[in-house]
Amino acid sequence: MKIMTVFGTRPEAIKMAPLVKKLNEDPEIQSVLCVTAQHRQMLDQVLELFELTPDYDLNIMKPNQTISMITANVLTGIEPVLQKEKPDMVLVHGDTSTTFVTALAAFYQQIPVGHVEAGLRTYDKYSPFPEEINRVLTGHIAALHFAPTQRNRNNLLAERICEEDIVLTGNTVIDALLQVADKPYEFEDETLRQLDFQKKRVITVTCHRRENLGEHMEHIFSAIRDIAAEFEDVEVVYPVHLNPKVRGTASAILGDSSNVHLIEPLQYQPFVNLMARSYFIITDSGGMQEEAPSLGKPVLVVRKETERPEAVEAGTVKLAGVERDTIYALAKQLLTDKEAYEAMAQAANPYGDGTACDKIVAALKQRLAEK
Ligand code: UD1
Ligand code: UDP
Repeated sequence: MKIMTVFGTRPEAIKMAPLVKKLNEDPEIQSVLCVTAQHRQMLDQVLELFELTPDYDLNIMKPNQTISMITANVLTGIEPVLQKEKPDMVLVHGDTSTTFVTALAAFYQQIPVGHVEAGLRTYDKYSPFPEEINRVLTGHIAALHFAPTQRNRNNLLAERICEEDIVLTGNTVIDALLQVADKPYEFEDETLRQLDFQKKRVITVTCHRRENLGEHMEHIFSAIRDIAAEFEDVEVVYPVHLNPKVRGTASAILGDSSNVHLIEPLQYQPFVNLMARSYFIITDSGGMQEEAPSLGKPVLVVRKETERPEAVEAGTVKLAGVERDTIYALAKQLLTDKEAYEAMAQAANPYGDGTACDKIVAALKQRLAEK
């Protein structure tokens, strides 16, 4: 049975790498890997860490690319690959444009699609943008849905997806996290090597979402700048996403603060170690809302909504919105109110136990054997 996995951005690569490794090792499966390279450097970092060599690389990334550019280039780029390989199933992940467009291209070839990380919803078309619609559309193309949580499964059932096509798996991000989190690690990055994680309280920041570009990001970064200015024992570490729009706003607002360190995107292993050694996290990332509960690190999510309410219910994640004053107040509370901090710094594991990839491989084999 031939399974083709397709991904293109950093988070998809992190969450699919452990699965591709399992598919590669399985003697019953012929595993083909195609990357769109919607991201270039940030994708290559992950391929290198997990020692994956793609069979196909569409290499579509352009600086400042629009969603239409990604859509057109993936759609036309992947068609000949699908026609040549004729896989029994195409696997995609989550909600990026690579995900949706690959699912669409596979549908045009009448190749069944397996959707990993299926069923996450905010029910707000424009937030996150364009991810909410990407995952809804992918869900309605897919033949097999790998839902991380019971809530995700229920969301799919509510959309009249057949029960027998949904497999409850946990999130593969926990499989990836467990593969790197426990190994001893010393930072190579000079800024991180110099930081005194014992005496200082380190806040890890990331921010990149399209709906936050512009005004929201200005609010978020102003709050962070003001917190850094007020608390001398705080060091902010922000590995800045390679999107030029993000980098422009980050350096304009945070570039002059002496205890804010704007660094290059980190390889996954140092990044996990940075999160694990941080006091808390401020982010608009989806994946970090899943990783942080496992690490017991409070997260302020700088978004108006989240498709990951399990992490909020676990207590580790708080929705901080995109207004400067609210973000500032919540960050200040975590720095000054020990009780509020401890209430959030609880290790919980709503996203699985690191066996999601095994469950996915088993379900794939069963489904393809039934054919
Ligand atoms: C994309 C996904 C988003 C996902 C995010 C993870 C879409 C529309 N967006 O958003 O769902 O959460 O990835 O990070 O699918 N760039 C580089 N090198 C890289 C990566 C990006 O230079 O390795 C720059 C390029 O100028 C690129 C820009 O960043 O044009 C934006 O990249 P893009 O993939 O369009 O959007 P993201 O905001 O990264
Ligand atoms: N990450 C990383 N290096 C960094 C920043 C993030 O390896 O410098 C990891 C992080 O641990 C998580 C993933 O990248 O697993 C999140 O990616 P991103 O924020 O780009 O996308 P999202 O999660 O929002 O889809």
